[in-house]
Amino acid sequence: MFRTFRGGQSGGWRVTSVSPVTGEPLPFMPALSVIDGDAVALPLVPSRHAWRLVGVPSHLRYTERAERQQLVSVQAGLGRLEATCAALIPIRKSQAWWDLTQEERRKIFEDKSHHIASSMRFLPSVARQLYHCRDLGEPFDFLTWFEYAPAHVSLFEELVGMLRRTEEWTYVEREVDVRVVKEVLSA
Ligand code: HEM
Repeated sequence: MFRTFRGGQSGGWRVTSVSPVTGEPLPFMPALSVIDGDAVALPLVPSRHAWRLVGVPSHLRYTERAERQQLVSVQAGLGRLEATCAALIPIRKSQAWWDLTQEERRKIFEDKSHHIASSMRFLPSVARQLYHCRDLGEPFDFLTWFEYAPAHVSLFEELVGMLRRTEEWTYVEREVDVRVVKEVLSA
């Protein structure tokens, strides 16, 4: 159930950029591996040669039944052949966010920021998976992973640009944007 993202010297994805959006950056590594499980023999602390981030898919916190039905009816799964571009965006939210109640957070997340309602139109072009890691003692609270075709690169920019202007994002204290393309193996 764990998913490990390892930035290093080799892997199935070639890193095209590592951009610090807010807070402390992550060092650029030429390749990214996405591995099932957490048993990767690498230190948790980022080194000069590699870093690794671990997360776990979890239950929904904010999504209401009607929203979930809508999402399920339009979303695409990971691993589509044409989705050769991807983004790993680790995010940590501030103490002020975690000090809010669940109800207050949902208000900011959806009623004010429209995270779900506004993002829906980017489906199914963008496939996504959210991993939680706050309770694993990781440096981020969430690892967000998105896959899309090269034709949808600018659509993805529009999506992240839109979310970063929301009230929800005023609670983001660390965010790094790692962009990758699928490494094509030559015969
Ligand atoms: C492709 C369009 C997107 C859709 C449909 C979408 C939908 C959702 C949904 C339904 C949740 C709530 C899960 C729950 O109920 O617990 C969620 C959470 C989240 N999403 Fe998105 N999202 C999209 C894009 C993005 C992007 C581009 C980012 C990052 C730049 C992002 C970052 C997050 C984060 C960090 C959370 C966790 C929020 C929290 O629990 O505080 N999402 N998203």
